[in-house]
Amino acid sequence: MKEARRPSTLFLPKPVALVTSAAGGKDNVMTASWVNVACMEPPMLCVAVRSSRFTHELIGKSGRFTVNVPGEELLEAAELCGNVSGSEEDKFRLAGLTRQAASRVEAPLIAECPLSIECEVRHSLELGSHTLFVGEVMVVWVDSRITDDAGHLLVERMRPFVLNYREYWGMGERLGTYGSGAPPFKVIP
Ligand SMILES: Cc1cc2nc3c(=O)[nH]c(=O)nc-3n(C[C@H](O)[C@H](O)[C@H](O)COP(=O)(O)O)c2cc1C
Repeated sequence: MKEARRPSTLFLPKPVALVTSAAGGKDNVMTASWVNVACMEPPMLCVAVRSSRFTHELIGKSGRFTVNVPGEELLEAAELCGNVSGSEEDKFRLAGLTRQAASRVEAPLIAECPLSIECEVRHSLELGSHTLFVGEVMVVWVDSRITDDAGHLLVERMRPFVLNYREYWGMGERLGTYGSGAPPFKVIP
C-alpha cells in the first residue's frame, strides 16, 4: 500500500561522484549525488549545484567541469569533499586526492578515480536553490585496471557506490544483463 507524501527530492539511488572545477587560478573538488547522464547524442552529463557552493562559482566562471567516479575506498574522501567548502580549503590535499591534468578543461581529473569525464557546459538552468549545469562530454578517461580485454568496465573492480537517504551503499551482486528480456525485434538504444 503506497501513501502519498509531500513533494521532495526523495529519489534513490543517487550516484556519488566527485566534481572538479577551476577558474582564475583556483581549483576545487565537490562531492555530488545530483549527477547523471542527460543525453546520448551528443553525450551529455548534468549536475545540480546549489548556488552557495564554491563549485557553482567556478563552473559559472569557466563553463567547464569534470565528473570523477570514486570507488568504495574513496568513501571518506567523498564525505570530506561533501562537507567542507573549497573556498577556504584545499580539499585535494585534505582528502589525499591527486590532481591529474585534463586535456580539454582547466579543472583537474582525480587520479584515484578510475573513471573521469571532462565536460563543457552547454546549458545552465537556474531552477531555484540549484543550477543544473548540462555539460557536453569532451573526453572520457578510463583506468585500464578496471577494464577487461575488450575495454568494458568491470563494476566489481570499479566498486562505485550510491547514496540512499543519508547512507552510502555498495553495488551488491550482478542481477542480470541489459537487453536479455527484450523481445526478438530491433532494440532501441
Ligand atoms: C554524498 C554527497 C552528495 C552531495 N551532492 C551534492 C549535489 O549534487 N549538489 C550540491 O550542490 N551539493 C551536494 N553536496 C554538498 C556539497 O558537496 C557540499 O556542500 C560541499 O561542501 C560544497 O563544496 P564547495 O563549496 O567546495 O563547492 C553533497 C554532499 C554529499 C556528502
